[in-house]
Amino acid sequence: MAEIRIRNTNERIQGDVNVGAFLSGQSVIYEQWDISKLPAHLQGKFVLSDEEKSEILSTYDTEIRDLALRRGYQTWDVITLSEATPNLDELLKKFEDVHTHTEDEIRAIIAGRGIFIIKGSDDVGYFDVELEPGDIISVPENTPHFFTLMDNRKIVAVRLFVETNGWVAYPFADPTFQKA
Ligand SMILES: [Fe+2]
Repeated sequence: MAEIRIRNTNERIQGDVNVGAFLSGQSVIYEQWDISKLPAHLQGKFVLSDEEKSEILSTYDTEIRDLALRRGYQTWDVITLSEATPNLDELLKKFEDVHTHTEDEIRAIIAGRGIFIIKGSDDVGYFDVELEPGDIISVPENTPHFFTLMDNRKIVAVRLFVETNGWVAYPFADPTFQKA
């Protein structure tokens, strides 16, 4: 279950109903998959062969196709980040710039944890969405955001794309944003 932290006030929002209501108020799609479906040998595994990535996609094929049908996604894949990822620090630094895309950015967390930092409505400001396995989040198109890992610095996630070529990050210069 995701948790929200509103950066301006440090307020935390917890629990299905509250988190769901907050995110839908910010036009962020939030859903959940049954993480217990993941085969035991893939649980907590952060270095994956191509076969293991395919196994994750086939485990959640129904859920993926349901999202694709509703939202127009054409392709999907599995990404992993961990200490085994070459240049993890450099990569994370690159991620930590506020940016936008013309497509939504949707991630289904399979293992590990991650945070999306999203620019909310004017009354809310930036908020963190702390994600755990089973959480699905879609950051709306043209919404300033960035992604980073949490303390364990590990994640496995499914990404879905409407069009891979059209998915480019545009830097969003925001002097009011303070990294925390
Ligand atoms: Fe992004």
